[in-house]
Amino acid sequence: MLGRTQRPGPVSEERAELRRLTQRPQRHRLLHGYPLAAAMPRVETGDRSTPDRLRFHPERGLLVGVLPHPFCNPAVTGCGFCTFPHETFNQGRAVVVMDHVARELAQKLEDDPDLAGRPVAGLYFGGGTANLSPADSFRTLCRALANAFDLASAEVTLEGVPAAFLNRTPLLVDILREELPARHFRLSMGIQTFDVERLRQMGRLGFGTAKTFRDVVRLGHARGFTVSGDLLFNLPGQPLTAMREDVERAIEIGLDHLGLYHLVMFAGLGTEWSRDPGLVASLPANPVAARNWLELRSLLLHEQRFYQTTLTNFERHEFLGHERRFVYETLSFQPGRYDMIGLGPTGISFAGSGQTAVKVINPDSASAYIAAVSQGGATWDRAFAYAPRDLRILHLTRSLAALRIDRQHYQSVFGSDPLHDFPREFAALEQEGLVLQTDAAIEPTGLGMFYADSIAGLLAWNQVQGRRNRQRRTESSTANDADSNARGHM
Ligand SMILES: C[S@@+](CC[C@H](N)C(=O)[O-])C[C@H]1O[C@@H](n2cnc3c(N)ncnc32)[C@H](O)[C@@H]1O
Ligand code: SF4
Repeated sequence: MLGRTQRPGPVSEERAELRRLTQRPQRHRLLHGYPLAAAMPRVETGDRSTPDRLRFHPERGLLVGVLPHPFCNPAVTGCGFCTFPHETFNQGRAVVVMDHVARELAQKLEDDPDLAGRPVAGLYFGGGTANLSPADSFRTLCRALANAFDLASAEVTLEGVPAAFLNRTPLLVDILREELPARHFRLSMGIQTFDVERLRQMGRLGFGTAKTFRDVVRLGHARGFTVSGDLLFNLPGQPLTAMREDVERAIEIGLDHLGLYHLVMFAGLGTEWSRDPGLVASLPANPVAARNWLELRSLLLHEQRFYQTTLTNFERHEFLGHERRFVYETLSFQPGRYDMIGLGPTGISFAGSGQTAVKVINPDSASAYIAAVSQGGATWDRAFAYAPRDLRILHLTRSLAALRIDRQHYQSVFGSDPLHDFPREFAALEQEGLVLQTDAAIEPTGLGMFYADSIAGLLAWNQVQGRRNRQRRTESSTANDADSNARGHM
């Protein structure tokens, strides 16, 4: 077991692989689904045959993710740590990209007229920094979405940097309310930390400090919105007391939901900070980082009466079972029930139908995205068609991100038990103390949540190995270890 005396006995290949994975930097890629972006096969944009067009079946639920543009403007490149696609902010370019997002939506409706008027359960404006969108473009896009879909039961989220919720006219929060006839609205801001020196190190002082964060909460609450904030922990050289203080201050300013992210950082990651050997050397080793996670989780669950909905999301107790709880993320973890339309640069779409499914991703950069939309046809430059075992891995990894694999549900979808389909993987995970198995469910332990990336890597391991070998045999390999825990988002 990780961090305890190991049991004697032969070590299976899976257990050895798991130990290897848990010694590597841990990421949050379980939140990004299977396969990971870096493992998605490349396709030509505009090609409608790869795969057969996405089909969104009317009996399935629908989520819409909009990445209006990839731009943001921190004073330090990528805020030092950021692993999301981002480009330097430019107002004129943002307008052009957003025009193309509206065009992409129109093309999707033309291709698939049954989409028009479909009820949407969740609409999420994210990406680089969605709340830096130019106001007129944002209004136009909101109108196009309101005309395209039935938003009456939708939860709508606008994500962004704290100051940009407040310091502009008109406020995007008001445009949201004016243009979208939705059930509920949320704001989601990146706080990262309350420590002013660290915000300076991130180049984020222009995005506000504690007072700004509190004002965003007030702004949202005054309009009946719920408000969420992202915090990072395990920052270079950060003591546990400072991490606890950040969590306590986030609660004290009245946030409804909290996204708590262990900092993903290691030499070679490509972020600004990851190029600084001194900063990399001051990161905690995995066992210490995992203990910090367990401490903060315990602070939230036991001292502050929050509850946990996913690997990284916590909510105040009063939202439990309440219609104003955050639904977009948990619904996106149910690929058996919900499809996803992703619009804009890096937009991810997913369409399932019984025993098959397709996932596609739009180009990341503004210029490649504009070119893809302009030429017509498919906008995506990566596409993946799921084989039966891929669907099982998708189901398991999404369920783990939502903290529970329901064995009966899995049985009803696939006609078998997860322990039957992945016996050696789950044996290794249990032996290492990363999952708990009961007759009803398989759940990650607190430690397993920290090592979730390794869990996902192990479940995908044999399948990825097999794909890679097949690719090598056909000599068309762009072989990479993208579904191991080495590369990809966060
Ligand atoms: C795409 S950003 C959007 C928020 C907005 N752009 C901002 O900076 O406030 C989403 C969140 O991902 C998290 N994130 C980004 N890079 C990360 C990393 N290397 N490790 C852990 N979390 C990360 C941050 O907490 C960030 O708020
Ligand atoms: S954390 Fe937000 S503001 Fe900073 S680089 Fe990433 S997307 Fe941009």
